[in-house]
Amino acid sequence: MKILDGIKVSGEILRKLADEVSRLNLVHIHPKLAVILVGKNPASLSYIKQKQKACARTGIEWEQFDYEEDITTEKLIEKIEALNADETFHGILVQLPLPKNVYTPKVIKAIDPKKDVDGFTAYNLGKMFLSTEFEHLAPCTPKGVIRLLEYYQIPVKGSEAVVVGHSNIVGKPLSAMLLNRDATVTTCHIHTKDLASHTKRADILCVAVGKPGLITADMVKDGAAVIDIGINKKKDGSLCGDTDFDEIFKKAGYITPVPGGVGPMTVACLMENVVTATKRINNIP
Ligand code: GUN
Repeated sequence: MKILDGIKVSGEILRKLADEVSRLNLVHIHPKLAVILVGKNPASLSYIKQKQKACARTGIEWEQFDYEEDITTEKLIEKIEALNADETFHGILVQLPLPKNVYTPKVIKAIDPKKDVDGFTAYNLGKMFLSTEFEHLAPCTPKGVIRLLEYYQIPVKGSEAVVVGHSNIVGKPLSAMLLNRDATVTTCHIHTKDLASHTKRADILCVAVGKPGLITADMVKDGAAVIDIGINKKKDGSLCGDTDFDEIFKKAGYITPVPGGVGPMTVACLMENVVTATKRINNIP
């Protein structure tokens, strides 16, 4: 039984990125991320804090633009267009969720795909469907899961991979990335009839739903790699994932803790995307 240590692996990624940022600085290139935050959603504030810390660790410059909940879609798009045109910025991140009065797809569409470090635009999502060769700006959480699997040398090719959750930012792109690596992929979601019949087959089980206790030990195959992408706040304020960690720990081959599993990997992959975007904008291989 092995814990997939996202803090350790993300730390190694961040250290390498810090070296890369120093090398870019030597040729007067300063990777810079623009972060747009609307309102004061506590989860968003906490995620943003982690991202800002990672920027500080890697030497990536950070500028945050805060807006009130009542901002319009048009005003946000205006800001994004200004950031698209501003050569000092290499990445633009709009923290989700946006308030109900803002039409999120239109806001995401406004981001220049070259600066779309979250990998949320149709261009970058479409590109990553082609093959591993075109995953330059893939969404950060799926990328983080793949990095963890690679680090611990968990075989993906030919494996049965089951992804629970079919969001545009995690479940769907993660399914595509596993398929790019020749897993046999099943994507389950809220309308799946018999969830356990699928999860029990999984060599790699990835869960991104946001429902504590959704996956119990009886739903997991012996020796499986269980990747818990859920982040839920318990009544006492502590965090937990979507899986019953203590019981699954006894049965699985590998498991990610929450916190300390996929979360820090997401942040590290965001930093990686900022560096990738900076290099591609500047035609650096
Ligand atoms: N909200 C929850 N996860 C994410 C993420 O990865 N990126 C952004 N921009 N917003 C989020």
